[in-house]
Amino acid sequence: MEVFVVPDADAVASCAAREVLEGLARATARRSGARPPASGSPSTAKGQAGAKGAAAVGPAVSGPVVLGLATGSSPLGLYRELERAQGEGRVDLRAAHGVALDEYVGLLAGHPQSYREVLRREVGDRLGIDDARLHVPDGAHDDEASLAAAAADYEETIRGLGGVDVQILGIGVNGHLGFNEPGSALTSRTRVKRLAASTREENARFFDSVDDVPTHCVTQGLGTVLSARRLVLVATGEAKARAVANAVEGPLTASCPASVLQWHADAVAVLDEGAAGLLANRRYYDDSAAGL
Ligand code: GLP
Repeated sequence: MEVFVVPDADAVASCAAREVLEGLARATARRSGARPPASGSPSTAKGQAGAKGAAAVGPAVSGPVVLGLATGSSPLGLYRELERAQGEGRVDLRAAHGVALDEYVGLLAGHPQSYREVLRREVGDRLGIDDARLHVPDGAHDDEASLAAAAADYEETIRGLGGVDVQILGIGVNGHLGFNEPGSALTSRTRVKRLAASTREENARFFDSVDDVPTHCVTQGLGTVLSARRLVLVATGEAKARAVANAVEGPLTASCPASVLQWHADAVAVLDEGAAGLLANRRYYDDSAAGL
């Protein structure tokens, strides 16, 4: 795993955007049949979001690339950076597909806190990705069979898109990834899960009260997340420090679902000082980022 520690949330957003766009530049080349830029080459690792030298032929990121989207506060700055890159003509994400990690069960279509609506507001509308290309699990069912079918359909949707090129991830205070709570199988696929009581309490800030937070969700499994070609985790603030240390340096265990990042060959964690506060191997990460 590559770990970047940067001073603050703004720097996390810009560093993570660079890592996301580097992955999407490779996807653009791969999906258009061109030779992809080398992974992790010095020019892409430190470069201009993979846009180097591409000005004459159009943006380095364009076409039907597949971007995995996370909800929560952590990726919002990153989404603003992608919007900025598009505004400056460095990338064109209007034909991209957005693929959500998860959705609540039981919220009515159009509920402002449903993840479909959140991602429409925060990503789709801003980047010009229309609803047909914004894919979110369908949690608007009240029986198990329909929810299980919706979960299976979602796996099929992802397969039909040719997989997720870059998956953006946040991390829960308890180490959850998407809505894969501690104890989630490391090879799990999209399915219905119960939310941990602590997760419902954390997410109560988006609802009138904790009682209004759904008890269940449909979430990509950890195995689904691992199928994405690149993973980019963003985390800020001291409240995430324990979860981040467990995910990055702890054992690979279902007790910390985000530790599956260690199993992925192209995972990147972008952290601010607060979130990185409990990392033991900090010096190594800084040396690696500096190219030493
Ligand atoms: C939510 C989402 C996760 C997100 C996490 C952290 O419940 N399902 O995908 O990463 O909680 O949220 P935040 O970034 O607001 O701390």
